[in-house]
Amino acid sequence: MGHNRDDPNPEDPMLAIDPALIPEHLRPVIEAMCRTGAELSRVIAKGPLAGKLGAGVGENSDGDQQKALDVMADEMFEAALRGTGVRYYASEEQETVLTLDPEGGYALATDPLDGSSNIDVNVTIGTIFSVFAAAESAEASFLRPASDQIAAGYIAYGPQTLLAVTFGAGTMLFVLDPDSGSFVLSEDRMALPEAAKEFSINASNRRHWTAPVRAYVEECEAGREGAKGKDMNFRWVGSLVAETHRILTRGGTFLYPADARPSYGNGRLRMVYEVAPMAFLVEQAGGKATDGTRPILSLTAEELHERRPFVFGSAEEVDRIAELHG
Ligand code: AHG
Ligand code: MN
Ligand code: MN
Ligand code: MN
Repeated sequence: MGHNRDDPNPEDPMLAIDPALIPEHLRPVIEAMCRTGAELSRVIAKGPLAGKLGAGVGENSDGDQQKALDVMADEMFEAALRGTGVRYYASEEQETVLTLDPEGGYALATDPLDGSSNIDVNVTIGTIFSVFAAAESAEASFLRPASDQIAAGYIAYGPQTLLAVTFGAGTMLFVLDPDSGSFVLSEDRMALPEAAKEFSINASNRRHWTAPVRAYVEECEAGREGAKGKDMNFRWVGSLVAETHRILTRGGTFLYPADARPSYGNGRLRMVYEVAPMAFLVEQAGGKATDGTRPILSLTAEELHERRPFVFGSAEEVDRIAELHG
């Protein structure tokens, strides 16, 4: 029997994930993320039976429209992380950092619900999280080199509910077993293939792209007749979690570049909630992640909600994209 949100039983010995696979100090944090992810996956599986999950309810500080499920997910993770050792909680859906436990040792940043344009159409959505050791202030805890992360993960709510997580020693993959309510290890070391057969970019922005991005996409489109000498297929889901999971599984490249529009001068994706954690997961699986040229893990966020151009995936392709920027 899994945990039931309406009927919590502190005596229930059932854990949402095998603690032996999680560094001891992070167990309460990861357990809370998994338990809440499992609860959220049940809400998502109900779709319209759980209410108007995709209804617009406001705007967040990033200027994104907030959907009912964005707010619900944020409230669930915030509540679940209380008492787990998280001192600072930063969320895409909140303007400022919350202090959950003044004595806690961790700072956790999350995109509680990624891919919110896909809520109403039964396409994979997700949760992304990033963990740092708490520093002397909220700002100092998150505005630091991405390489300081001690853990990062995503939960994908799709045909399967999955957890990919890294603690800096490879990227592990877990699948939520609906019978037990627990995440079960399915791969202890994900390996992102070095070569790619697929690329991903929002092609509706083509007219705004920079010359190097245009050159790369043209190379992909030229297929076996062009410089690449091989055909490349194209995919765009519109959920970073789904895109990342596909690329971790079978290779590929993803680009959300800076473009000529003033509001896309740093692309669309947020450094603290999306780019840094995905870069950590990708690199731990043997892939590469850059802002076009520089490794994301070498970069420092200057503002909580800042955006960063993001390129990641198979090493050969990410290197080629950097070369085209050279
Ligand atoms: P969110 O739903 O958390 O705001 O994130 C949406 C992001 C990301 O998931 C995806 O890669 C990208 O926005 C999709 O962008 P387009 O709207 O340009 O397709
Ligand atoms: Mn959003
Ligand atoms: Mn997102
Ligand atoms: Mn989101």
